Amino acid sequence: MGEILVTGGAGFIGTHTCIALLQAGYSVVILDNLCNAKQESLLHLQEITGKSIPFYHMDIRNADGLRQIFQTHHISAVLHFAGLKAVGESVQQPLRYYQNNIGGMMTLLEELQKTDCRTLIFSSSATVYGTQHTAPYAETVTPLSASNPYGETKIISEQLLQDLCQADSDWHITALRYFNPIGAHESGLLGEEPHGIPSNIAPYLALVASGQLPYFRVYGNDYDTPDGTGVRDYVHVMDLAEGHVSALQYSIQHAGFSVFNLGTGSGCSVLELANMYEAVSGKPIPLKIFPRRAGDV
Ligand code: NAD
Ligand code: WQD
Repeated sequence: MGEILVTGGAGFIGTHTCIALLQAGYSVVILDNLCNAKQESLLHLQEITGKSIPFYHMDIRNADGLRQIFQTHHISAVLHFAGLKAVGESVQQPLRYYQNNIGGMMTLLEELQKTDCRTLIFSSSATVYGTQHTAPYAETVTPLSASNPYGETKIISEQLLQDLCQADSDWHITALRYFNPIGAHESGLLGEEPHGIPSNIAPYLALVASGQLPYFRVYGNDYDTPDGTGVRDYVHVMDLAEGHVSALQYSIQHAGFSVFNLGTGSGCSVLELANMYEAVSGKPIPLKIFPRRAGDV
């Protein structure tokens, strides 16, 4: 087995997945343009794993740079995390999202096609289920629809990968639809640290618990749920990382296009999560109820 190229590998899920890959005995190479990550995360990753990891500070759309990587390393598989992921931002900047997420995928596949590497794991999202299906979501449901450009980039990417597998049976591709990844490696050296004020619940709770934000805004308590607040399937990022190792092993054995949900299959409400955070951290989490957030399912 050659090396695994982890695009977006300096990011939240990419760094945690690199730990699982290295612990499973794989060698990894990281590519990231650091638009939503810090290079120091890679130092923490090396501290945790004791491994030095080749890192290419470049954009996934840099075809020449990609070609250089494939000529320098024997890449056997790619885990493709590189992408923009903020739903709200995608509504404001659709072209940037399509160019980055679809353009990046296209460049990656075009360069991959020139090599002998035909195994790819793609970071998709449960956001592709949109609002017209109800939980539990079967991977086979159609049609997929997203209420925002970000989600559309995931649907289009999955379609692109499916068509590629139809055209060429040599491809071994798995799309993983993540629900809500949260948490951090037990070392406390890595975690979710987006630039600016977080829109996601877990990094926001962390800033309240650490006293950097005064209170936590509960977006809506009038949903049809036991305590009225939004329910989600939160999955620990290290479980998600292990899911990628399993998906890689599955993909190596199975040609064609496969798709799997990655979640726990059980829900947790905003209030349950906030109260649990307070109980476990021992830090007060003051709450204020706000109206529902636009676009929330
Ligand atoms: P993240 O922003 O922490 O990681 C993405 C990484 O990709 C970042 O390090 C960023 O710098 C890099 N990147 C972005 N565009 C790039 C480009 N053009 N070239 C090179 N590097 C680029 O996000 P994450 O939470 O780790 O998500 C990883 C993947 O999983 C994304 O594709 C995201 O859409 C998907 N996903 C995330 C969630 C979630 O809730 N975190 C849920 C479902 C799917
Ligand atoms: C979770 C719950 C909020 C913040 C998003 C993307 C999705 C995927 C995962 C990429 C909801 C509530 C949140 C806050 C709150 N990302 N909340 N106060 O919206 O389920 O999914 O991240 O693929 O595409 O849409 O995650 O963490 O933003 O919200 O009450 O300050 O917490 O209303 O019920 P979401 P989230």
